[in-house]
Amino acid sequence: MKRSAWSSKLGFVFAAAGSAVGLANIWRFPYEVGNNGGAIFVITYLLCLLAIGFPVFVSEVLIGRTTQSSPAGAFGKLAKSRGWGFLGGITIFTGFIVSAFYSAISGWILGYLVEAVKGNVSSFSSLQEVVAHHTSLMDSAWWGVGFHTLFLIFCWYVLVSGVKGGIERGNKIIMPILYLLLILLVVNGLFLPNSMEGLRFLFSPDWHEVTPVMFLIALGQSFFTLSVGQGTMVTYGSYLKRDDNIVTSCFPVVAMDTLVSLLSAVAVFTIVFSVGMEPKGGSGLIFQTLPMVFSKIPGGYFFGFLFFFLVFLAALTSQISAMEPSIAYLIDRFGWRRSRAVALVTLGVFLLGIPSALSSSVLKDATLWGLNPQELMLFSVSSILIPLGGFFAIALVGWKWGITGALKELHRGASRKLKDSKLFNAYVWICFKYVAPVLITIVFLNALKLF
Ligand code: ALA
Repeated sequence: MKRSAWSSKLGFVFAAAGSAVGLANIWRFPYEVGNNGGAIFVITYLLCLLAIGFPVFVSEVLIGRTTQSSPAGAFGKLAKSRGWGFLGGITIFTGFIVSAFYSAISGWILGYLVEAVKGNVSSFSSLQEVVAHHTSLMDSAWWGVGFHTLFLIFCWYVLVSGVKGGIERGNKIIMPILYLLLILLVVNGLFLPNSMEGLRFLFSPDWHEVTPVMFLIALGQSFFTLSVGQGTMVTYGSYLKRDDNIVTSCFPVVAMDTLVSLLSAVAVFTIVFSVGMEPKGGSGLIFQTLPMVFSKIPGGYFFGFLFFFLVFLAALTSQISAMEPSIAYLIDRFGWRRSRAVALVTLGVFLLGIPSALSSSVLKDATLWGLNPQELMLFSVSSILIPLGGFFAIALVGWKWGITGALKELHRGASRKLKDSKLFNAYVWICFKYVAPVLITIVFLNALKLF
């Protein structure tokens, strides 16, 4: 059976950008910037992308393109060892767990999109009303599981339509719409009164925030946002042709992802400050502060709808990318038809996602080590499995395979200028072999509180 592939390099760029741009950009980044020193955080974050995010991202795509296999086969083939194949298998498992809780959270977003259509994110007169409405939704098990299911039906539809006809085509349609919505929201925000306050909050440097914790948050964010460590980029890289230029495929993805994070921060904070509210973090920002803001600004109904539609699209393209490694594995390993693999993975994600979808209702008090099922999945994935997966990829490229071999493969399809660039080659040697593995180890030990 012929293996799936992108129709062109651009197909990869759109799909990988769709994967990278997700809840972490629109939901988490704005708050982290505002809360961790503004401009200082942005600069630290960009340095983290350069030193760790980009090297791991490129390594994963390189592993995929070189072996033309999903992660388990890819790691095993490149290292010529079954043990490494097993480590690649762990990254597929990570993507599967990510998709389970991501779908439950994205279900809430979809639920709020429906609320936006009904006018229920833009018609409040007090924060108490917003909170009461939010609590009534979150307390409903049917609401949580229902939208988790509906969200997965959308994902199933894209995935079953194939790599080219579903993932690539879907991303080529969704990503431009996403950018357009974001630009509309940014322009609206900038024209609101007090918008400069929001920009000042975001970007004026606060030197007191330069702490090791801020550095670790920036590092963790750079990792999660690029969807590394979860098998996705190895799988998406495996659909590239052997001669596609990796550097010019990967760089625009990281640039687009960063741009969305920055624009989201501007959109969110200009509107929050325009009504004199204080930004909150996490779900409080999306589900409480913003509905209050949309109730106060002119055109709140329209902008509330646009905002939730934007987040829904971003979540959809990230979710399918977390499910694809498991699907590719079933096809590569057992020769299954795509429709069968998609059906089984969707069913598995649905079942594993149920405890997460019920985490704000009936399972709210079912805690282990003080964490509810969703928090437990989030912690094990973002603090343990994803850093581990990224570490396996960079260790495979930097140490097991070796930089010399990796560089040779990286030069394949690249321009002469890049091949001869001393700066680029030195960057690969230093960051891929030393800086990135050391920094990931630091994040990992910190997350486990061993540090
Ligand atoms: N990269 C995806 C996000 O940012 C997972 O949400």
